[in-house]
Amino acid sequence: MERYMVIVTIFCMVITRISCCDIVKLTFPSGFKIGTASAAYQVEGAWNVSDKGENIWDHWTHNYPEYIRDGRNGDVACNSYYKYKEDVALIKSIGFDFYRFSISWSRVLPNGFANEINEEGIQYYKNLTEELLANGIEPIVTIYHWDHPMILEELGGWTNELMVEWFADYARVIFDALGPLVKTFITINEPSVYCGNGYNTTRHSPGKVLENMGHYICIHNTLKAHATVYHMYDDEYRSEQQGQISLTTQCDGWYLNDDSNATLVDQAFQFNCGWVVHPVFVGDYPEIMKTRIAMISELEGYPFSRLPEFSDEWVEYIKGTADFFGLNHYTSYILTADPDEESGIYNIDSGIIKSVNTSYPVGSLAWMSIAPEGFGNLLRMIRDQYDNPPVQIFENGYCDLGELDDYDRITYYNSYMTELLSVINNDNCNVVRYTAWSLMDNFEWSDGYTVNFGIVSVNLTDPDRARTSKLSTSWWRSVMETRTVQDVPTSV
Ligand SMILES: *[C@@H]1O[C@H](CO)[C@@H](O)[C@H](O)[C@H]1NC(C)=O
Ligand SMILES: *[C@@H]1O[C@H](CO)[C@@H](O)[C@H](O)[C@H]1NC(C)=O
Ligand SMILES: *[C@@H]1O[C@H](CO)[C@@H](O)[C@H](O)[C@H]1NC(C)=O
Ligand SMILES: *[C@@H]1O[C@H](CO)[C@@H](O)[C@H](O)[C@H]1NC(C)=O
Ligand SMILES: *[C@@H]1O[C@H](CO)[C@@H](O)[C@H](O)[C@H]1NC(C)=O
Ligand SMILES: *[C@@H]1O[C@H](CO)[C@@H](O)[C@H](O)[C@H]1NC(C)=O
Repeated sequence: MERYMVIVTIFCMVITRISCCDIVKLTFPSGFKIGTASAAYQVEGAWNVSDKGENIWDHWTHNYPEYIRDGRNGDVACNSYYKYKEDVALIKSIGFDFYRFSISWSRVLPNGFANEINEEGIQYYKNLTEELLANGIEPIVTIYHWDHPMILEELGGWTNELMVEWFADYARVIFDALGPLVKTFITINEPSVYCGNGYNTTRHSPGKVLENMGHYICIHNTLKAHATVYHMYDDEYRSEQQGQISLTTQCDGWYLNDDSNATLVDQAFQFNCGWVVHPVFVGDYPEIMKTRIAMISELEGYPFSRLPEFSDEWVEYIKGTADFFGLNHYTSYILTADPDEESGIYNIDSGIIKSVNTSYPVGSLAWMSIAPEGFGNLLRMIRDQYDNPPVQIFENGYCDLGELDDYDRITYYNSYMTELLSVINNDNCNVVRYTAWSLMDNFEWSDGYTVNFGIVSVNLTDPDRARTSKLSTSWWRSVMETRTVQDVPTSV
């Protein structure tokens, strides 16, 4: 009799387990944080109020509108400088845990340097931070999201090593003003994107094409600037402010197919993600970057490698300057080795051609395909390469043409978050935060307002920039209520 009871009990437990686990699988672990994000130039507008100085995106969009798909700019953007209370109310109504926003350097320091502080600029960010806290939303601050003051660019911008000190002076002003309220800081957003687009091509401001090496110099100084600010926080602020600080890096995913092998994948990963992250988590640039760029530079006749070298002191100083792994991720590519290399022709430093797998659905930007398994491949690689660090995802999202019934966006979030929970549960990946990019439709850099990443719609021709819910607004609301990934609603 007793034995029978035990067997029945065990049987029932097994049944409960199975039925419970199908649900548990899509529920976020307790303590996991979910939020949304924006960046100053993309949403604030108010480009010339109070004493705000001109930044490199003001300058670029005003003087070279031909580089922006619709010729428009961020002068008004989403008008968030005036509508921040409404933004916070929206974030609260969806139920997000935190809001990641960035500071406009030239709003705080109009001429770039710390000799003149614009109190009204600082006050805006204090207001926003206090409004978030008053509504139970954690503020997360990105100190630099691509929009440095124009005067600094005239002095060489990120190709000038003095930028390291100017950035540290600026960061100090931010820690003094906001550090008592903000517990997570991101020094710098996506170095490889603004360096690659802005100092090697005309895709982004400042649009300097610099001998196929401007981007390497830009990252070099960026990493020094990041490390300097990390140490400054550690030495002067951490004991009192008790926060955490790191940078966030854009990393692509990849599909595995018959042509890919571990060597090819590693090479692609190191040239994209490792370029920024290896110096911080392991020390110095990845070996494959150092050897390949030195070899190609020599073939090109340079007496030096186009990839600058760190001194041993800098290698040590940069290493370990991350309290967490900040990750921005959107999409994945097919990787192909450049076939010309077999005949000794080196066209691409990385040696990798990236293409989109056309069997996957794509968003309104042609590079943006929905490929969640590539996200999983990436997260497992980060786990293996950097000793399973705590990963905080600061951007992930999908662009379309602004449809209010945005089923594709929901499909994207559903599949990426399902993949995320799978690698957390099954592969032991230590991901602790997820950020949906973006709160609302906004100025998408060189694409202007032609593509939209928002969970909330903004009427970008209305002078008041009215906000309207999308289908994904209510989908996200249910995700936050249940802390569980919801199904994609069936379209009618
Ligand atoms: C600010 O820029 C707008 C154009 O976006 C212009 O109409 C306005 O006059 C400028 N205001 C000041 C104070 O310069
Ligand atoms: C900050 O908030 C105060 C009080 O609501 C308001 O008077 C001030 O205009 C705000 N400043 C900015 C720059 O938003
Ligand atoms: C940088 O520019 C060179 C020359 O225009 C180009 O061949 C190379 O692919 C670019 N590299 C990156 C990372 O964009
Ligand atoms: C594209 O994706 C499909 C579906 O996963 C896969 O079968 C195919 O091999 C991929 N193509 C390439 C070239 O990787
Ligand atoms: C991996 O792929 C690359 C590019 O296709 C090829 O050159 C290399 O020989 C492959 N390595 C192995 C171990 O198969
Ligand atoms: C957007 O705003 C413009 C200008 O106020 C208005 O004419 C238009 O109807 C609005 N669009 C939508 C979809 O509400």
